Amino acid sequence: MKQRDNKADRFWDWIARRYDRQVHRDENYTQAVERIAKYLDPGDTVLDYACGPGVVALKIAADVTEVHAIDTSERMIEIGKQRARESEVANVHFAQKTIFDDSLRRESYDVVLAFNILHLLEDARPAVQRASELLKPGGLMISSTPCVAEAGVLLRMLLSLVSRVLPLSHLWKFSTADVEDLILHEGLEILESEAPERTLPIFRVVARKR
Ligand SMILES: C[S@@+](CC[C@H](N)C(=O)[O-])C[C@H]1O[C@@H](n2cnc3c(N)ncnc32)[C@H](O)[C@@H]1O
Repeated sequence: MKQRDNKADRFWDWIARRYDRQVHRDENYTQAVERIAKYLDPGDTVLDYACGPGVVALKIAADVTEVHAIDTSERMIEIGKQRARESEVANVHFAQKTIFDDSLRRESYDVVLAFNILHLLEDARPAVQRASELLKPGGLMISSTPCVAEAGVLLRMLLSLVSRVLPLSHLWKFSTADVEDLILHEGLEILESEAPERTLPIFRVVARKR
């Protein structure tokens, strides 16, 4: 994917190794994957949108037929491929591409994962629309989104400053209502949602394409 070389991609390339080390130590990932396991079937083809270093994709690999793990950061994809080789996982296919890439076929996925991405996008609506388009009828979109608008005041102030410096412009104002609105606007049906009380609430939603 050579056409993109924007500030956000360079930021994620730069932070990829550190991010990978940090999420591998983060128990929330193990819990998040445990929570979604009940929605996965052995026959499923899954799209992991904005997969980062592939922590979730590699964790669910044994529960499904195939995972297509996509991200716009070259470094994140390299790390994901390396980890797949090291752990001898053959059914996770990493690729540097956006969700709008023509190679992704409409109505071909049983599950689309969108973990820690919606709040980072300039405009998340087209991405959710595309995710819905890629899902088979009855397929699931499972998202997990930090909702900074509902975080404590100090953290919000800090992230508001951070988002002026880093290419994360909307990060600090994203709310659970924004996520619900994005999903319902696409006509997806929310099956389950939760936003555990934490310093930074992470809003988890399982939604079905009708
Ligand atoms: C916070 S990380 C989340 C990674 C992974 N989903 C996880 O939960 O660990 C955000 C990821 O989104 C990717 N990203 C940012 N904008 C993107 C876009 N427009 N399309 C695809 N990936 C994007 C970044 O490269 C980065 O790897």
